[in-house]
Amino acid sequence: MKSQFFSLALASLFGSHAIAQSQLTDIRDLRVVRNGSVLMLDNKPWKAVGANVYWLGLDENVTPPPGSPYYAPLHASYPSPGRITQIMSIINAMGGTMIRSHTLGVSVGNPLSLWPSPNQTNPEAFTPIDWAVYQARVYGLRLMVPLVDNFDYYHGGKYTFLRWAGFNLSRSGDERNPQVQEFYNNPKVVDLFKRYIESLLTHRNPYTNLTYAEDPTIFAIETGNELCGPVWGDMDVPTEWVRDIGRFVKGLAPGKLFVDGTYGVNRTHFGVEEVDIFSNHYYPVSTTKLQRDLEALASVDKPYFAGEYGWLGNAATADASLPAWYREIERNPKVMGDTFWSLFGHNVPDCNTFVEHNDGFTMQYGNPAHAAQIRIIRQHFVKMSQDLSISADAELPQVPCPAPTSLTP
Ligand SMILES: *[C@@H]1O[C@H](CO)[C@@H](O)[C@H](O)[C@H]1NC(C)=O
Ligand SMILES: *[C@@H]1O[C@H](CO)[C@@H](O)[C@H](O)[C@H]1NC(C)=O
Ligand SMILES: *[C@@H]1O[C@H](CO)[C@@H](O)[C@H](O)[C@H]1NC(C)=O
Ligand SMILES: *[C@@H]1O[C@H](CO)[C@@H](O)[C@H](O)[C@H]1NC(C)=O
Ligand SMILES: *[C@@H]1O[C@H](CO)[C@@H](O)[C@H](O)[C@H]1NC(C)=O
Repeated sequence: MKSQFFSLALASLFGSHAIAQSQLTDIRDLRVVRNGSVLMLDNKPWKAVGANVYWLGLDENVTPPPGSPYYAPLHASYPSPGRITQIMSIINAMGGTMIRSHTLGVSVGNPLSLWPSPNQTNPEAFTPIDWAVYQARVYGLRLMVPLVDNFDYYHGGKYTFLRWAGFNLSRSGDERNPQVQEFYNNPKVVDLFKRYIESLLTHRNPYTNLTYAEDPTIFAIETGNELCGPVWGDMDVPTEWVRDIGRFVKGLAPGKLFVDGTYGVNRTHFGVEEVDIFSNHYYPVSTTKLQRDLEALASVDKPYFAGEYGWLGNAATADASLPAWYREIERNPKVMGDTFWSLFGHNVPDCNTFVEHNDGFTMQYGNPAHAAQIRIIRQHFVKMSQDLSISADAELPQVPCPAPTSLTP
């Protein structure tokens, strides 16, 4: 399904040639749609398999060259175009079909954000997002985009909106404060959040001349990342809020699939018609927890997505937990896919240095230390996508650095 690339001349990246090409009938212009518990693309079942690449819109892992935009207090900078393109090339080489990326949607509260302050759009912050959406399209990949984060990381999240509305709350100190529910319940906060969503989805990408709402590359919008109430894991995300945000998103972007980003499967959300996909995260991978989630969802004719999972086993030895996890996913047709946590590449244009992230889950394609695990992941992706063009047992293909920004058949 990823084989139908059209020639996009390098010189035309900013010009009309790319736009004309994108108007051809092309699988990339077709939407991923839901039929009951199955996602479909081009009238065939489609699986969403890939990686979390949380930094595509805004990064925290690299000190950029002098003179580049940089917000030192949060170590925030824009990823280079070459880093973004290399990730698309890697997912392609791994047989993946999509990426889940927090900062394509969550970017509030610092000078480099889409919204540094309430109602204030920063046009510069759209550039890496535009590029990521365009490059995903070039490589035939799809994107799942969360709108807010439960935490208070460099890219902002629910606490940013709360502070903007006058609630002086932060994750350190207030995580268990019942007032955090004002994010969902306070009309002023909800309205500001909707204005933000609107500014994101109505933005027109100059590389494609499509708004994010229009572009089928973004196939799914997720309420948020790991949303909770005041108690960790309480899944206390008001049903009415999920419905309200779902209606708002689908009003602006009728073609998108809508993901319930509650941290866990909350049965009270099953009645929300606007939700297309339920999901959960797994640290560590757990087939027991996955089975529990799928049992909870058994009565609902909607698909399930394992949005994050961390694995610290040793692929070089006999640790079988990752293959067992994948077998469970592969055997249940209700699971529409999964995205592992989390993928990095080189610090392009420096092709000799990998970007490091400090959470212990960094996966670097091309790093010999990660190759055995990446091979297992790749076999799983190919099983899920049934991409016959990939021989999953072969050696991992080289991904060029820098990777091409356009592809010819
Ligand atoms: C949707 O799924 C049902 C069975 O679940 C099938 O009968 C029907 O043909 C499917 N529709 C499309 C458009 O694929
Ligand atoms: C943001 O803009 C909306 C709509 O114009 C307005 O109602 C609201 O008061 C503004 N909020 C802030 C915090 O500036
Ligand atoms: C917000 O709360 C912090 C810590 O609780 C406090 O130090 C600070 O002064 C407060 N800021 C405002 C504007 O009330
Ligand atoms: C971009 O799309 C808009 C809205 O569909 C259209 O009016 C405009 O002519 C397009 N621009 C180009 C360069 O094709
Ligand atoms: C699920 O959501 C409902 C409605 O918002 C909430 O009352 C409940 O605490 C949540 N958690 C569980 C486990 O149902």
